[in-house]
Amino acid sequence: MSNTSRVVSDELMQVQREYCDKVRAIYENKLDRQPMAFTQTFGCQQNEADTELIRGMLAMMGFGFCDSIDEADIVIVNTCAIRDHAEQRVYGNVGELSHAKKNNPELITVLCGCMAQQKHVAERIKNSYPYVDIVFGTHALCRFPENLHSRIARGKRVFDLEGDEKGCIIENIEPVRKQGHRAWLSIMYGCNNFCSYCVVPYVRGRERSRDPEVIIREFKKLLEQGYKDITLLGQNVNSYGNDLEGVCDFPELLERINAIPGDFRVRFMTSHPKDATKRLFDTMARCEKVCNSIHLPVQCGNDRVLKEMNRRYTGEQYLELVDYARSVMPDLTITSDIIVGFPGETNEEFQDTIKMLERVRFDSLFTFIFSPRKGTKAWDMPDVLTKEEKQRNFEELLEVQNRISREINDTYVGKRLRVLVGEEENDRSYNNEYTKQSRTEGFKLVYLRGAEGLEGQYADIVIEKSSTWALFGSVVK
Ligand code: SAH
Ligand code: SF4
Ligand code: F3S
Repeated sequence: MSNTSRVVSDELMQVQREYCDKVRAIYENKLDRQPMAFTQTFGCQQNEADTELIRGMLAMMGFGFCDSIDEADIVIVNTCAIRDHAEQRVYGNVGELSHAKKNNPELITVLCGCMAQQKHVAERIKNSYPYVDIVFGTHALCRFPENLHSRIARGKRVFDLEGDEKGCIIENIEPVRKQGHRAWLSIMYGCNNFCSYCVVPYVRGRERSRDPEVIIREFKKLLEQGYKDITLLGQNVNSYGNDLEGVCDFPELLERINAIPGDFRVRFMTSHPKDATKRLFDTMARCEKVCNSIHLPVQCGNDRVLKEMNRRYTGEQYLELVDYARSVMPDLTITSDIIVGFPGETNEEFQDTIKMLERVRFDSLFTFIFSPRKGTKAWDMPDVLTKEEKQRNFEELLEVQNRISREINDTYVGKRLRVLVGEEENDRSYNNEYTKQSRTEGFKLVYLRGAEGLEGQYADIVIEKSSTWALFGSVVK
């Protein structure tokens, strides 16, 4: 298989395992208790999944996990670079590490992930944040044990942005996942699409797919561990397998997963519209364990802006996809991402996005104001709208979507559905009788009454009330 050379070889991981043992020995000598780690994750599910791998490596080094920095011997901040706001939050957070370090000078502080992969960020940390001990980028994830050992044994700060953009795939590390019944499973890494606004291809490198056999094995293991709702992850899952020389593509992977025995749900994100095919939707419709639910980011509704974004589809093509998907899955839920205020977007062009919302009627949206990212094509494209105009458009967008979400949710009242009951309690102060959280096949949030003791199980429910953000229901005996 063409990508075996990109899988971090067992030999290489063997080296890292040896570093794990060395770190473990150092802490055993130094402490008369188990060393503790505190991890913090910004950004998307891919980053969450990376943190689970990091936790896997920490466990191999003997660490336990704590919920507060005060109890920690090491703190790891896994960062996101998608928008300026995300980076500013991280800088704010890194500032707090200085206090923690004052309280505990032995504390090891680590910054990693997408933001850390950028040279200008690493430089800034090097020069202005002396209390950060280790900085490593996404390509150096597999060398975390070696870098940690180097910091402890040599006492010097470590900056590791090495690794080429073709990247690598780490196998044979057992991720330490959150307890519960929902899990992430990365099926591929990186992105080849270079949307003109987006930093991801620069900080995560080129697309590389995991071996389907390895994915199936990991999936089965998740089922054995009790997970029942599993999300396959990739920046563009529709191009899964493009680098596997015809061994398996995404619809095929879904078929194979669907054939695994057991009562489970599988979903995926994200799908790029330019690579979504009728075959994908036919497969989703046919496979009963694949949720009839899709996150299909459209970004905007205007063809000129879509072209400038380098999205490689038109509004019309997007609508054709949605219409086809709904024709084979009438109950399909669709969510999307929208960017408001892309450079050059006019108020008239923005109205095409509003039209897109009215035409598609998304279940819900993730909405963003454009944020220029250094190194991307759109970084210095000129604006025609002022900040205030962009803000006004953003608010109009929210208003329209909130109405649509509300209208869609209202149609659920009286319906019978099957949900997976969560561990989480209702954290809201209203509607207190609906104590449990649950998710529908379409990933709609339903607060439940009468669901005590059903955590982690499927339940048949009836919807009693609705709001813009959630549904409320009770268990049918
Ligand atoms: N791979 C996914 C998206 C990952 S980023 C996809 O192509 O759909 C998640 C979302 O962040 C994007 O869909 C986009 O809406 C938003 N985003 C990315 N870069 C941005 C930027 N520079 N400014 C504002 N929003 C951005
Ligand atoms: Fe970014 Fe586009 Fe790749 Fe998504 S597909 S990660 S938006 S470049
Ligand atoms: Fe952020 Fe990296 Fe994800 S930039 S959105 S954490 S891929």
